[in-house]
Amino acid sequence: MRKPYIAANWKMNLDADAIDEFCAELSEFLLDFDAVRVGVFPPSLYLPQVVRALAGTGAVVGAQSCRPEASGAFTGEIAARMVADVGAKATLIGHSERRQIFGETDADVVARRDAALAEGLDVILCVGETLEEREAGRTNEVVIGQLEAALADLTPDVVRERVTLAYEPVWAIGTGKTATPDQAQEVHASIRARLAEGLGGEVASATIIQYGGSVKPDNVSELMACPDVDGALVGGASLQLESFVALLRGGQPGA
Ligand code: 13P
Repeated sequence: MRKPYIAANWKMNLDADAIDEFCAELSEFLLDFDAVRVGVFPPSLYLPQVVRALAGTGAVVGAQSCRPEASGAFTGEIAARMVADVGAKATLIGHSERRQIFGETDADVVARRDAALAEGLDVILCVGETLEEREAGRTNEVVIGQLEAALADLTPDVVRERVTLAYEPVWAIGTGKTATPDQAQEVHASIRARLAEGLGGEVASATIIQYGGSVKPDNVSELMACPDVDGALVGGASLQLESFVALLRGGQPGA
């Protein structure tokens, strides 16, 4: 049985005061809520603050990206080693905004992934097609291509224990256009089938595949009712505590 995993990707939003308030209220909520695994991915500057504020709650705190090099002349960047050093436990890798705005390639995804894993961080590997690719009938080819690149050379054990996947159709991110449950399920099922083919049925059935793209309190339950949708990676609707808590409640089994 896969425990649902819902993660907040705050992107470049919120400030220190808002984060204090959010984390204090989330900690209180998590005192008696354990049905969903919770992740919080703040801007890196606030990682130490969020690590401290959510200590002992069971929530995973992670970075939104990181450089693979341990140190060096990379002005403005943050190393996977630094993310681990401040007590964070995970990082997103290959988010479509990193790919599109910052030009990250599949090779960059692998380099970041390997550095993060070596530093003891778990990873959420993100894949997803653009509208143009979907309209050209290339969704499967693009998503499975990104998946194969992102998982290349990983052992089944590492994938089972350290890797979460996130399917985020680019056309659904921040647009209010959510994939329908059928559209999400179709891609999630093909991701799981590819996992089974490459890494075996046990890994395929243990791996969490999150959906991301305009997930809201009013659509989270129908998305997560799909057999291969195990969680959500949420931007806009994760910025307010009330909305995030509604997502967690709506994402629990049987909601
Ligand atoms: P929205 O939930 O704002 O569409 O963002 C999705 C996303 O990119 C999460 O990583």
